[in-house]
Amino acid sequence: MRHFISANQLTVKEIMRLFETADWYRYTGLELKQQLFAANLFFEPSTRTKSSFIIAQRKLGMEVLDFHSTTSSTQKGETLYDTVKTFEALGADLVTIRHCSDTWFEQVRDHISIPIINAGAGKAEHPTQCLLDMLTIYQEFRSFKGLKVVIAGDIKHSRVAQSNAHALKALGASVFLSAAPGFEDYSLDFPYISMDEAVNCCDALMLLRIQHERHEESSTTDSSYLENYGLTKKREKQMKKHAIILHPAPINRGVEIDSDLVECERSRIFKQMENGVYIRMAIITNTLQEWGIMNENTIEKCKAAISS
Ligand code: CP
Repeated sequence: MRHFISANQLTVKEIMRLFETADWYRYTGLELKQQLFAANLFFEPSTRTKSSFIIAQRKLGMEVLDFHSTTSSTQKGETLYDTVKTFEALGADLVTIRHCSDTWFEQVRDHISIPIINAGAGKAEHPTQCLLDMLTIYQEFRSFKGLKVVIAGDIKHSRVAQSNAHALKALGASVFLSAAPGFEDYSLDFPYISMDEAVNCCDALMLLRIQHERHEESSTTDSSYLENYGLTKKREKQMKKHAIILHPAPINRGVEIDSDLVECERSRIFKQMENGVYIRMAIITNTLQEWGIMNENTIEKCKAAISS
């Protein structure tokens, strides 16, 4: 049985199946006829990921347990490991975890008998964001083969860049990176291009914010960043007619992207957020099925019953 830790653990076939299930949830929905408890253990700030997990869980009819790290017993020194063991003992059926450590799952994955979904690990992995990004691109182009995707911004400190670059390659896209000096990560084996080159060649441009909270030294961004490395209105005009803009958000308007472009025609930024709910529903039910917590083939049986 697998925890959902990394996008790399999925085959292309499994990714496509999650897309199909997510689309099915968008139009149909499924309320589980079992009492199932979910705990969302977020030790870093979140708006989208935490809320979309809660919405996904509630749409599935799950009971969402209340947990806020700032008012939890972690403030009295309880470890992540003991927090997860506590929720397991209390009867949670699923936990999602976001933590600043790149490798938090190494402490817990072999000692917990309920499934864990990675909701963000330091600067290493953000697999559910990755899948909602892939779904958004797939909805647009229906294939990744031959697509040129540029990931641009603070690559060095971004867990989204790590997850997405590998997944895009596995799915058949050509991946390029674009970063200001000091924001490169040469452990990712993809070519770097300038932002001017990026807008000319890409089918999808994935922008990233500067992750100040993960910088070793305190840093600020001056107003020249947008002009030199960001998506300005002038650069947007150079993009191919069909090219789309993505951003995992939160967005720093006027830094990595001109504020007027956040909601422009080619922006899929709010579509990504919407997709986040449905892909997380699919990930949750797929994981619960793999663990035997939800009856195997429940989704398939529901699909068959509805289409007959
Ligand atoms: N994209 C993303 O992870 O957003 P949050 O930090 O708001 O969850």
